[in-house]
Amino acid sequence: MASLQVSGVTVAFGGNRALDGVGLTAESGHVTGLIGPNGAGKSTLFDVVSGLRRPSSGRVFLDGRDVTRSRPAGRSRHGLARTFQRLELFGRLSVRDNLLVAAELGPDRRRAAALVDALLTRLGLTAIADSSPDSLPTGVGRLVEVGRALAMRPKVLLLDEPAAGQDGEETERFAALLRALADEGTAVVLVEHDMGLVMSVCDQVYVLDLGKVIAVGPPDLVRHDETVLAAYLGDA
Ligand SMILES: Nc1ncnc2c1ncn2[C@@H]1O[C@H](COP(=O)(O)OP(=O)(O)OP(=O)(O)O)[C@@H](O)[C@H]1O
Ligand SMILES: [Mg+2]
Repeated sequence: MASLQVSGVTVAFGGNRALDGVGLTAESGHVTGLIGPNGAGKSTLFDVVSGLRRPSSGRVFLDGRDVTRSRPAGRSRHGLARTFQRLELFGRLSVRDNLLVAAELGPDRRRAAALVDALLTRLGLTAIADSSPDSLPTGVGRLVEVGRALAMRPKVLLLDEPAAGQDGEETERFAALLRALADEGTAVVLVEHDMGLVMSVCDQVYVLDLGKVIAVGPPDLVRHDETVLAAYLGDA
């Protein structure tokens, strides 16, 4: 069953169509990749899905429910969580409290502290749980943001360039985490420029270019698609 379904989404900034009739489906148990050159519209699509930007046309469904008109908080109650390309952590709170704030909004609020401790362990953040996120390298800050999203126990998890700033070993561990989350039933949507990561963890990849989906398929098919190669070369 599709956990997230987007159909016919169009967003215009002035005369520029950032998204033009975009459709996307992300299934529970799968990692769905969303790739494309800079400015393709990936983050804008996440804004539409999470309710931060209203599309001029199109619909968003979570678990079959039309949430196109719901506010962001309503969408999180229906199981949606996301991270941001530009980190948006609470700098005055510790790493642990960043996760705790989210856990207390989620379905597991009664056992929020235990849930947060388990997440800190899972993400390897226990040693820095009392630090301020502002003091951390970007790669680690991104993991904290992933932790905050996971603290809401999402069914659909949108990740906007979560591995940027991670080294090779961190990225490998992160890939294993994404696979595990999918295996637990989460629908993961991954925006990422690290093609190694995308190709190794995604079940299905959507390629956006200039606001349009130009290819969809398993990683191996998409990476050899001539339209896709041309879009990336045009970007170089
Ligand atoms: N708030 C805004 N106002 C005007 N134009 C915008 C705004 N946000 C995005 N855009 C434009 O919309 C298009 C899509 O931008 P978006 O940030 O969604 O791309 P992206 O695929 O996430 O790119 P990147 O890989 O660089 O993060 C771009 O042309 C961008 O300049
Ligand atoms: Mg972006």
